[in-house]
Amino acid sequence: MQRQNEAKHLRVWLYVSESCMTDAEADPAIEDIVQVSREKNCHLAVSGALLFTRQRFAQFLEGPEEGVNAVKASILCDKRHQLVTTVCWAIRKVRLFKGWSLAYSGASQYMASILNQVDLGDKAIPHKVCEELTYLFGEFARTEILDCQGPISKRDGR
Ligand SMILES: Cc1cc2nc3c(=O)[nH]c(=O)nc-3n(C[C@H](O)[C@H](O)[C@H](O)COP(=O)(O)O)c2cc1C
Repeated sequence: MQRQNEAKHLRVWLYVSESCMTDAEADPAIEDIVQVSREKNCHLAVSGALLFTRQRFAQFLEGPEEGVNAVKASILCDKRHQLVTTVCWAIRKVRLFKGWSLAYSGASQYMASILNQVDLGDKAIPHKVCEELTYLFGEFARTEILDCQGPISKRDGR
C-alpha cells in the first residue's frame, strides 16, 4: 500500500447489506471475498473491515476517492449480497484501519443487534445509526478484537 503520499482527505464508505448465501455457501465465499479483497484493497491503498452476521454484512472502507469508488463499483454488482445500503459516505483525515487491507470478523449477537437496526434500502439512514456503527468499527480497530475472531483476520503488518 502506498502510504508515503497519503491523501489529505480519505473517503470513507460504510454500508450494510443482506447476504444472499446459504450457510453452506457462506464459509467458502467469505474466504474468497477476504482473500480477493486484501489484494485488491492493498493495491488501491484502501483499508477497512468487514463484519458478517450470516444474515447481514457491514463494511467500513477508507482510502483515496478513486480507490474506494473502484471497490464500491465491484461490491455493488456482487450477487452474493443485496440491498447494499449506505450508512455513511464521509471524509476523514485519519485512517481507522491503518495496517489492515481488510480485517474480518464473524458474527456476534451484539453486532447483529446493531446491524439489524438498519432499514435496508432506506435512503435516509438516521445519523444516530451511522454514529453507532462508526463507533463499533472504531472499537474494533482500537481493541484489535478482530485479531482473535475468525480464521482470516490476520493483520497485514504494513
Ligand atoms: C460483502 C462483500 C464485501 C466485499 N468487499 C470487497 C472489498 O473490500 N474489496 C474488494 O476488492 N472486493 C470486495 N468484494 C468482492 C467484490 O464484490 C468483487 O468480487 C471483487 O472485488 C473482484 O471484482 P473484479 O472481478 O471486478 O475485480 C466484496 C464482496 C462482498 C459480497
